[in-house]
Amino acid sequence: MKLQSKTILLLLAGSIYVMACQGKKSDSQDTAAAPAEPAAAAPASNAEGKKIFETYCVLCHGVDGKLGLNGSKDLSISVLPIEEKIIQVTNGKNLMTPFKDILTEDEIKAVVAYTEELKVK
Ligand code: HEC
Repeated sequence: MKLQSKTILLLLAGSIYVMACQGKKSDSQDTAAAPAEPAAAAPASNAEGKKIFETYCVLCHGVDGKLGLNGSKDLSISVLPIEEKIIQVTNGKNLMTPFKDILTEDEIKAVVAYTEELKVK
């Protein structure tokens, strides 16, 4: 019994996270873009995004998103909507690698959510 309700809770948390990441302009649920938290206290949901970013994206974008190697854009001042970022990370653009064969959809959403945290507030 206990185990079961835990599993359900986990599933629930997971789907809420995914919904939030889809960014359907739901202000109340948008934990993915939750601002103003110091990096150390970042919500657990973004630990994965951070890890993915540091593995695949720092190469061109740098840890703070500002590096701009290979003509990459400064992510800290990006005004691209989340939906478009997801599309761009999925399919790539110019010198940017497409990640659709490297990351899962959920991983792409997580890393895009993390790029939102890099933005200059
Ligand atoms: C090989 C270098 C490279 C890597 C690796 C890379 N990018 Fe990029 N990124 C680029 C380039 C180049 C652009 C600019 C594309 C253009 O508009 O011509 C870009 C643009 C972007 C943009 C759009 C910014 C804007 O405002 O237009 C986002 C978001 C982004 N990258 C996220 C990511 C994420 C997340 C990862 C890791 C999963 C990643 N990038 C990995 C090179 C890279």
